[in-house]
Amino acid sequence: MANTVPLLLALESSCDDTGAAVLRGLEVLSNRVAGQLAHAEFGGVVPELASRAHQTSVVPVVQAALDEAGVLLTDLDGVVCTQGPGLLGSLLVGHSFAKSLALGLGIPLYHAHHMRAHVLAHFLTDGTDRPVPTFPFLCATVSGGHTQLLRVTGPQELFILGETLDDALGEAFDKAAKMLGLGYPGGPEIDRLAGLAEARRIPFAKPSIKGLNYSFSGLKTSFLQILTREFGSPSNVAESDLPWVCASIQDALLDHFFESLVLAVKQTGLKQVAIAGGVSANRALRARLQALGAQEGWDVFIPPFAYTTDNAAMIGADGYFQWLHSTNTPLHLSAQARMPLPKDPTFA
Ligand code: KG4
Ligand code: ZN
Repeated sequence: MANTVPLLLALESSCDDTGAAVLRGLEVLSNRVAGQLAHAEFGGVVPELASRAHQTSVVPVVQAALDEAGVLLTDLDGVVCTQGPGLLGSLLVGHSFAKSLALGLGIPLYHAHHMRAHVLAHFLTDGTDRPVPTFPFLCATVSGGHTQLLRVTGPQELFILGETLDDALGEAFDKAAKMLGLGYPGGPEIDRLAGLAEARRIPFAKPSIKGLNYSFSGLKTSFLQILTREFGSPSNVAESDLPWVCASIQDALLDHFFESLVLAVKQTGLKQVAIAGGVSANRALRARLQALGAQEGWDVFIPPFAYTTDNAAMIGADGYFQWLHSTNTPLHLSAQARMPLPKDPTFA
């Protein structure tokens, strides 16, 4: 390898965002994302539409990332792409593109794991000053497809302490928003409306699951039942009532989230606590974690907004750690929809 710090092009295409980033090691030189509006009218991601949109977006997004970084394809030392988990059709678009590029340029390909990459986003540098966790630490990954509590002992060593047994936290936000007739993805809209609310709250039923796992689907049923009882139907909630209804939903989801997180800190003794994934953009979650950290004496790590929802810079971080260990990917390997992380042996 000619360079001591590699210049990497990273691609993310696991769901409905086409991302491309250029990194020098862990330093982000550019980080471009093209979202896909086509899904909004269906209230969720339509896999076929997502794959087609990646096809049309990938070349312009990659070009924009290279231009912003002032880098030519021939300057690159490697290409990183998301191997999985995610929607297979979407993954295959980014993966095939990255593989062809690596083959054409004669440079190595690195496979990133989407959920590991969300965690490794904490190590990205971009000129902003923020604390970085040291190993081992606890990380809660909260996205549209996953909700997991992880013990992170190294860049490639992440172990599941607990996870959701049904819906992910982001999925629960999105389903509640859909019920209320809000757009997709609904998480950011619930966050925004809840921010306008005053103290009034609806007491929803608490999930009965114990330990380090989660179950958000019972809460969804409770939202439906109580909103139907109070308003005739969730879609009847008046605009003026939406803020406190959204704040009630958000509180109920976050109460459940924090219950297991607190228990995980107690059981593992890990006092460095990080969050990652799309829902870590939620302002109430971030504020509650800060407050809890201050109260309990934890070191809290909250990613900048740009690295919370799906992006390619985080994929580059995962690729960089593999470059460090020379673990580039043989070109005959393919994308994978399911890539479960291992369970923590001490908590399995
Ligand atoms: O990590 P991500 O971009 O994609 C997946 O890997 O799933 O996460 C997307 C999820 C969606 O469910 C979206 O509603 C949620 O993150 N999300 C939020 C917020 N921003 C994104 N949920 C609550 N509050 C937010 N501000
Ligand atoms: Zn994600």
